[in-house]
Amino acid sequence: MKVIAFSALLILNLMPVQMVNAASIYAGQAKAATVCSQCHGIKTPSADAPFPSLAGRDAEYLKTALKQYRDKTRKSEIMNAMAGSLSDDDISNVATYYARLKP
Ligand code: HEC
Repeated sequence: MKVIAFSALLILNLMPVQMVNAASIYAGQAKAATVCSQCHGIKTPSADAPFPSLAGRDAEYLKTALKQYRDKTRKSEIMNAMAGSLSDDDISNVATYYARLKP
């Protein structure tokens, strides 16, 4: 996974501006696949789990929620820990990725 993250970074750096949006979605997808999907799934969370579904939700809503978890104005032991290490770019990428998915 490190190799993929590194290549994604490399690609981002070489990418012309108009392709950055596609690249952010790719970076968001990598994050979602390695981290978030363990609880939230990609399209739907596992049926018996208490995890909110993220696919197709409003990107701004997701970004705001993640920033609130990160600065702990929204409390959740799990999500405060999850969001603690996310950069603004990570949040933007992963929110953009989930928002574009059809649930
Ligand atoms: C270990 C399990 C777990 C992982 C991994 C996880 N989450 Fe969560 N997430 C939760 C739980 C539990 C909640 C509900 C928390 C609450 O009550 O506020 C939640 C809530 C959320 C919400 C709020 C949804 C809403 O309807 O308001 C967002 C957005 C979110 N998570 C995004 C993410 C993202 C993005 C990642 C990956 C970086 C991630 N989560 C990783 C367990 C997890």
